[in-house]
Amino acid sequence: MKNTTQNPKQAAGERAAKLVKNNMIVGLGTGSTTAYAIKELGRRVADGLDILGVPTSYQSAFLATENGIPLTTLDEHPVLDIDIDGADQVANFIAIKGGGAAHTREKIVAESAKKFVVVIDDSKMADVLSHPVPLEVIPAARKLVEKNVAKLGGKTQVRMGVNKDGPVISDNGNFIMDADFGKIDDPVSLSKELSYCTGIVEHGIFTNVDMVYIGKKDGTVKIISLRNL
Ligand code: A5P
Repeated sequence: MKNTTQNPKQAAGERAAKLVKNNMIVGLGTGSTTAYAIKELGRRVADGLDILGVPTSYQSAFLATENGIPLTTLDEHPVLDIDIDGADQVANFIAIKGGGAAHTREKIVAESAKKFVVVIDDSKMADVLSHPVPLEVIPAARKLVEKNVAKLGGKTQVRMGVNKDGPVISDNGNFIMDADFGKIDDPVSLSKELSYCTGIVEHGIFTNVDMVYIGKKDGTVKIISLRNL
C-alpha cells in the first residue's frame, strides 16, 4: 500500500502504528523511525484510541507525553500486546539496535511483548549483519570488556558525546561501546557470547523480531513476517 509520504521512515512508522488496536499495551521504541509511529498513535489517541504506552527511553517517554499517549510501566503491565521499534540493521529477522544508546531498555520491552515489530527504511536491510554492535557497559568494566570482546574478534570503541565532552552516558548511567566484528555470520552465537561477558549490561543484537516494516523511497512499505501473527 502506498503512503502519501515520500519519507521511508515515516511510511514504515505510520503504517506499523495501524497494528495498534483499542485497549492494547504498547511498547514505544526509540529513534527517528519510531517517532513517526508514536506521533501517529498520538493522533489516534486524540481521535479516541484507548491505549497505554511503555516507553523505552527518556526520548520516547517525552515524545509520547507531548503527543497525549498515557504511559504505564512494566511493573503494572509486565506483558505488552505489541512493541514497535527501529533498528540500525536487520538480516534474517535479527536486528542490531542501540544507535541511540537505548538498546537495554528496548530489549527489556521487546522481550516483554507478544509481538515485536521493527520499523526501518530499506537501506537497513542486509543479507548478513555487519553493523557494529552497541554494548552498554558498566564504566569500571571498560578495559575488561575491550579485552574480552577482542577475544571474540571485535574491535571496540567507546562512543563519544556530541555537544558533550567525553563519553555518551546511557539513560541507565553507563558507557556505550560500539563493537565492530565485520560480517557476523552467526549472530545467535555472538549474542550468547556477549551475554556471558562480565561488565556488559546488554548488547544490541535482538533475536526476537517477529515482523519488519520496510519503508521505501516511493512511500510504499514492504512487510515481512516470521510467522503468522
Ligand atoms: C535506539 O537506541 C536505537 O535502537 C534505534 O531504535 C535505532 O538506532 C534506529 O534509529 P532510527 O530509527 O533513528 O534510525
